[in-house]
Amino acid sequence: MINLGYVVSIKNLVVRVQFDDQLPSVHEVLEVDNGFKTILLVDHLEKNNVALCLNIRSDRRIEKNMKVISTGKSIQIPVGDLTIGRVLDAVGHPLDGQPEVDQSAPRKDIFQIPEKKNDFSSTTPEILETGIKVIDFFTPFVKGRKIGIIGGAGVGKTVLTMELINNIAQNDSGLAFFAGIGERIREGHELWNTLKENDLLRNTCMFFGQMNENPVQRSLVGVSAVAGAEYFRDQQHKDVLFFADNMYRFVQANNELSTILDQIPNQGGYQSAVFSDVKTLQDRLSSNQNGSITSVQTIYVPADDLSDPAVQIIQHELDGTLVLSRKVAEQGIRPAVDLNLSTSSLLTPDIVGERHYKLSVEVMSLLRKYDSLKSIIAIIGESELSPVDRSDYAKAKKLIKNFTQNMNVMEKHLGVPGEIYTREQTLSSIEAILYGTDSNPVSEPPQASNTEKSKDDSQQQSSKKSGSKSKPQDK
Ligand SMILES: Nc1ncnc2c1ncn2[C@@H]1O[C@H](COP(=O)(O)OP(=O)(O)O)[C@@H](O)[C@H]1O
Ligand SMILES: [Mg+2]
Repeated sequence: MINLGYVVSIKNLVVRVQFDDQLPSVHEVLEVDNGFKTILLVDHLEKNNVALCLNIRSDRRIEKNMKVISTGKSIQIPVGDLTIGRVLDAVGHPLDGQPEVDQSAPRKDIFQIPEKKNDFSSTTPEILETGIKVIDFFTPFVKGRKIGIIGGAGVGKTVLTMELINNIAQNDSGLAFFAGIGERIREGHELWNTLKENDLLRNTCMFFGQMNENPVQRSLVGVSAVAGAEYFRDQQHKDVLFFADNMYRFVQANNELSTILDQIPNQGGYQSAVFSDVKTLQDRLSSNQNGSITSVQTIYVPADDLSDPAVQIIQHELDGTLVLSRKVAEQGIRPAVDLNLSTSSLLTPDIVGERHYKLSVEVMSLLRKYDSLKSIIAIIGESELSPVDRSDYAKAKKLIKNFTQNMNVMEKHLGVPGEIYTREQTLSSIEAILYGTDSNPVSEPPQASNTEKSKDDSQQQSSKKSGSKSKPQDK
């Protein structure tokens, strides 16, 4: 049955369509009978048989009184093997200059949430090593869980995400999804090129709705990418890695939509549905009996204010967060992680093992002490400290240096080779600093030459818990 309606008003991206009797459903796609089949998405229904719709493609060829046909379907994107290596937009059209994904590809309604119970808690947690010391140590990456990379503009969120894709996707036979949400357009090209250079396109699927797109597309692109990932998890029983850059832009896009829909914002200035917008999407990034989705999400922090309500709401959904800070970046430390603010609920003996857990407690307390000693030193000078304090201060400084690392994805820009460390090497290097178990304390910056030495360390000590594969040292 085809519902017929006609356009009664057009304002910005909002198109009101009057139906005679039978109304379309929310999230249904409508087509304007203007010869171009302009698509509209039903956002909600108003009284008097009016459907409030969003103009998905900002198509201006819509006029009042034009006929509108309901399609009986929601947004359907192509999913499955034919989408691998492709770059798609929020409604599943190619952005990579190649033809449309073949008609034979299965289609999936992006709003349809699979009915599956989460039961990943019954399985033993599996740590996926990232090769990045600061992540493996402070915010371990555990299969089926979520980590966030939080920070203001230009502090290194995207670079760290690229490095993660580079390091993990290469070692995993699984599949990686990338959702580019509302960020710079050139970053899409850069990612595509990096993946191509490293022959990673064959197990990556990308969705982009960058800042050049309208808020409808930006609010949908994350949902579409999640739908694509769910298909691989549920139908192909795959373990999927899901990268989103930037999750804050998802909230922002929905906020813009709520503004053009004349909805009243809540106290924080965000849309009143901000919590459910985030929760609905985050809940879908989960694991079930079929497979897993492990995600890394970047979160932009407006005005470097971590107490921003949207940032807090997203952060609440994550298992661990790495906070990047401008203050740290200004000291030339890369990655610019604020070690005192980064936290993870996965840093427990059950998950990371006794050795890692104990080290983390010790390192964190030393770093907190370092912060307070720093202000004392500013007043009285380092020489006035007690011997214990002075030794702790020196250790903390070494630790901070030890957590810096060159990124592989920056190699072609900076000419400095990237580094990858196994978790075992990371733990040993920290023990060396804390207990001096190394004949040559790690005082130099961890340049590539150190990699060889830490390799020897790792052969002497064995990790009890690490369930993941070792990473190649040199590439
Ligand atoms: N780990 C790093 N090593 C070297 N340079 C970095 C690193 N992280 C960021 N940068 C520099 O900072 C710039 C901004 O980083 P980016 O990741 O794009 O920031 P964000 O995504 O947080 O806005 C990069 O283009 C790069 O020049
Ligand atoms: Mg970025």
